[in-house]
Amino acid sequence: MSLNIVLIGPPGAGKGTQADQLRRIYGISKVSTGEMLRDAVNARTPLGARVAEAMASGRLVGDAVMIEVVRERLSRPDVAAGYVLDGFPRTVEQARVLDEMMMRRAPVIPIVLRVSEGEVMRRLLQRRLCVGCGLTWGGLDPGGTVQQRCARCGGALVRRPDDDADVVRNRLRVFEEATVPLIEYYRGHVAFASVDGSQPPSRVTEALRAAIDKARGMVRHAASQQAAR
Ligand code: AP5
Repeated sequence: MSLNIVLIGPPGAGKGTQADQLRRIYGISKVSTGEMLRDAVNARTPLGARVAEAMASGRLVGDAVMIEVVRERLSRPDVAAGYVLDGFPRTVEQARVLDEMMMRRAPVIPIVLRVSEGEVMRRLLQRRLCVGCGLTWGGLDPGGTVQQRCARCGGALVRRPDDDADVVRNRLRVFEEATVPLIEYYRGHVAFASVDGSQPPSRVTEALRAAIDKARGMVRHAASQQAAR
């Protein structure tokens, strides 16, 4: 049975950071809608042109566009063994369509990463991306200032355009309005889990592993009961 994980959480909750860990641990593909859209914007594709304004202001891209993008991505062979979705679904409509897409595959394991707004703001104002290797950095250097150079490749570190304080506030508002109802949608799901994302990254990974392994067992049990009926 494929392992299909959905990570949900406010901006800066650590979805991308943890999706990288889960990809490595479980040998599954990471599908990040934010990364896919940023690549499209940077490459100036027609999709990039359609989504650039919404992303820059912290609004959501429309459901129809997102569903088309994810439907195509999840039809590729590398996700047959499973995936960790970072950033999708974000609305109840997106979740309903994802459930339909998974009807003949394994159901998703939805996991919420809980982090306070204050912590989110702190993380995102400190986040920097390396223009050389693309690595994400967070936190301060030993001198207490925000890092200027990538410790891996020496490349310059830049801020994501939507990590401006006003845009982050807007992203948090959008999360409350559009994505909190999605958490309610998933709460009744057999495999739903919620993890404290404010712990150090390695502790969050451990907690996710425990939640996923438990949820996997529950999904298998539910599937075997259904097959026996
Ligand atoms: P997206 O890129 O998905 O942005 P987001 O959800 O706002 O999440 P972030 O990438 O900011 O944060 P994250 O949770 O991945 O945290 P990270 O691991 O980087 O989407 C961008 C935009 O695209 C959206 O605003 C929207 O416009 C559009 N979009 C995308 N998907 C869409 C969809 N489905 N529908 C509609 N529109 C869509 O960590 C953040 C920082 O904290 C890093 O510096 C990291 O090093 C640090 N950190 C991580 N974990 C910890 C920890 N445990 N302790 C301390 N620091 C930590």
